[in-house]
Formats: sequence, structure tokens, C-alpha cells
Amino acid sequence: MTNQVDVVVAGGGGFIGGHLAADLLAQGMSVRCVDVKPQHEWHQLHPEAENVVADLSLLENARAAVRDAGQVYMLAADMGGMGFIENHKAACMMSVLTSTHMLKAAHEAGVERYFYSSSACVYAAGKQTASNVTALKEEDAYPAQPEDGYGWEKLFSERMCRHFEEDYGFTCRIARYHNVYGPAGTWTGGREKAPAAVCRKVAEAVLSGAHRIDIWGDGRQTRSFMYIDDCLHGTQMLMRGTSSVPVNIGSSELVTINQLVDIVEEIAGIRCERKYQLDAPQGVRGRNSDNSLIRELHGWEPSIPLAEGMEKTYAWVYDQVKRARS
Ligand code: NAD
Ligand code: GDD
Repeated sequence: MTNQVDVVVAGGGGFIGGHLAADLLAQGMSVRCVDVKPQHEWHQLHPEAENVVADLSLLENARAAVRDAGQVYMLAADMGGMGFIENHKAACMMSVLTSTHMLKAAHEAGVERYFYSSSACVYAAGKQTASNVTALKEEDAYPAQPEDGYGWEKLFSERMCRHFEEDYGFTCRIARYHNVYGPAGTWTGGREKAPAAVCRKVAEAVLSGAHRIDIWGDGRQTRSFMYIDDCLHGTQMLMRGTSSVPVNIGSSELVTINQLVDIVEEIAGIRCERKYQLDAPQGVRGRNSDNSLIRELHGWEPSIPLAEGMEKTYAWVYDQVKRARS
């Protein structure tokens, strides 16, 4: 890693990192993608980027990753959907090493701007107990009662960014992403989130002719899902902006999981018998994003309709399922 680069994307082999790197490259920026996974496992590999395999939980690797970089997007984390974060709390919390060493290294290197990807999982569990949940405002993260494991790591790390800004004048931007979906994401293997999982299950039903699917929970729990293009727009807008407080980047289109399944079935043109798995990981009962702050700061909020984003996502997941079956 000897070249000067405009931007480092930490976690560049992941879902959001792969899309972000593509977008930055398309804008003419030089990009260094760094990820711990071997390159054949990266969701996207951009030949025009500098692509580095390194474990950023180690300080010397973090230092090398940010060397001669203008800006850093810190997206690296050991994470996944509810099936992963509910059963791998220690692994999720170990990402604190990556978050800490990347922040320290970027500050030492004099990086001009640092972006940290936090999560809606920082929000207090007691405010997410009903399906008809009141959308979460940024202040709802305190008093702290985040998602066990993963949420505590995110809350701690976003707070550490805040203190680097306050104590050292280091420019940090913090997004609290709400569930992000789109093509070229994780769709199988245990880390997939509900949108990709439902696409996979419906695609398997179409291809197998067995029109039955399993749904975790009773299907009446609620979420909002943000399409990747909105995520990329919001992320770069926040990075360019002047606010250093954590800001929601999420859709406010609240749906039940049953409604998510309805949308995918409609796209696929089938109806499935639904089997509800009440002992599967479910997380909070309801979660939605209050977008007052991002509207106030930027006059913008995520707006791509779920049905539109899911159409593109289903087409991509269907292709993956078909290829895996052949
Ligand atoms: P992802 O799992 O696809 O990407 C994260 C990447 O980080 C992976 O490729 C992983 O290999 C890499 N990584 C993990 N530990 C590393 C280490 N020690 N060194 C180097 N690389 C390492 O996840 P994503 O969906 O692209 O999410 C990106 C970021 O956004 C994460 O920090 C995640 O917690 C956050 N986030 C995502 C969502 C979502 O719905 N996708 C929601 C909230 C927050
Ligand atoms: N993953 C998954 N797979 N979830 C399913 C499935 C399935 O087959 N069927 C139903 N669900 C339900 C889950 O039980 C949960 O109640 C809901 O769909 C949403 O699950 P996920 O998409 O896995 O996660 P989440 O929304 O609870 O949390 C995600 O979003 C956070 C940000 O808002 C996670 O990805 C977190 O890591 C992320 O920070």
C-alpha cells in the first residue's frame, strides 16, 4: 500500500462497501478497498481500485490501510442479520478492535474525514416492543439499552468517534443505518437479512415448484428496509456535511414481514403456504426510522419504494439461486 488515494473503503469486500467503492470510482476518485476476506469472497472486486486483504483489527494493518488517504469510510464489521447477531454476540463485539484501531490510525495519519457506519441496533430495546412502533429519533439511543452484543459495540464505537472529534478535533461522520438491502449482498449462509432471505426462499419455491416457505416469527413484526442506492446517497451526503452527531439513514416505509413476503410473491408471481417459526431469531418487535434530523440537515431522506428496490433485488437473488441449483 504505497499509493496516495482519495478514499479508503474499510470492509470494501462487503455489501455496502462494494457498492460504495463502485460509486466513488465512477466519480473519478482513487479508491483503496480493504477487507479481511480472501478476494474470491468479495461481493464486488473492482480492478481499478487498489484491493487489499488485511485484518483491520490489528493496529499495524489499520495504519497501513489508511496511509496517504484523504478520507476513510469505515464499514468493516463482523455482522449479519438476526440469525447471525443473535448467535454470535462475542464475534460482533470483537469488531470493537477494528473500529478502535481504524479510528486511531486514521486520526494519527491526519485523514481529513472519517465515516463510521453505526446501526439502528443501538436504539433502546424498550422503545421497540410493538409492531406499530413510533419511529426512532436519534435521541432514543439513550438511556442505553441497545441490541445485546452487536448494538453495544456500535454504540460504544460511535461514542468513541464523538470523543475523537471533541477532544482532538478529528472530523467524524456517523450514520445509523436501518436495514439495507439490494443486489450483490449476502443472500445465503446465515448472515443474510430478511429481504434477501425472503427473495431466496421465494426463488427456491419458484424453481422447485414446492410453494411453501418458512418465516421467522409470526410475520407481524415490523421493519423499514432501505435500498442500497439511497444508502450510498445518504452516506456520501453525510460525509460531506457539517454535522458530527449520529444521524439515521433509513427508510420510513414501515412494513410487516408478511407484507415484505407479499411484495416478493407479487414480483415472483406465486403464492406460498407460510410456515411460521416462532423459535427463530426475531430481534425487536418493531423498528422504523424517524427522518426529521436528516431532512432538517440535508433536505433529503431515503425514498426508493420497497416494491421498486425488491424487484431489482429479487431478480439478482433469483439468478444466484438458479446458478447454485445448476
Ligand atoms: P458486510 O458484512 O457485507 O460487510 C462488512 C465487511 O467487513 C465484510 O466484507 C467483512 O469481511 C469485513 N470485515 C469484518 N471484519 C474485518 C476486519 N477485522 N478487517 C477487515 N475487514 C473486516 O456488511 P454490510 O451490510 O456491507 O455493512 C457495512 C457496515 O454497515 C457494517 O459496519 C455494518 O455493521 C453496518 N450496517 C449495515 C446494515 C445493513 O443492513 N447492511 C445495517 C446497519 C449497519
Ligand atoms: N434474517 C432473516 N431471515 N430474518 C427473517 C427471516 C429469514 O428467513 N424470516 C423472517 N425474518 C424476520 C426476523 O425474525 C426479524 O424479525 C426480521 O425479519 C428482520 O430480520 P433481519 O433482516 O435479519 O434483521 P433486523 O432488521 O432485525 O436487524 C438488521 O438490521 C439492523 C439495522 O436496522 C440486522 O442486519 C442488523 O445487523 C442491522 O444493524
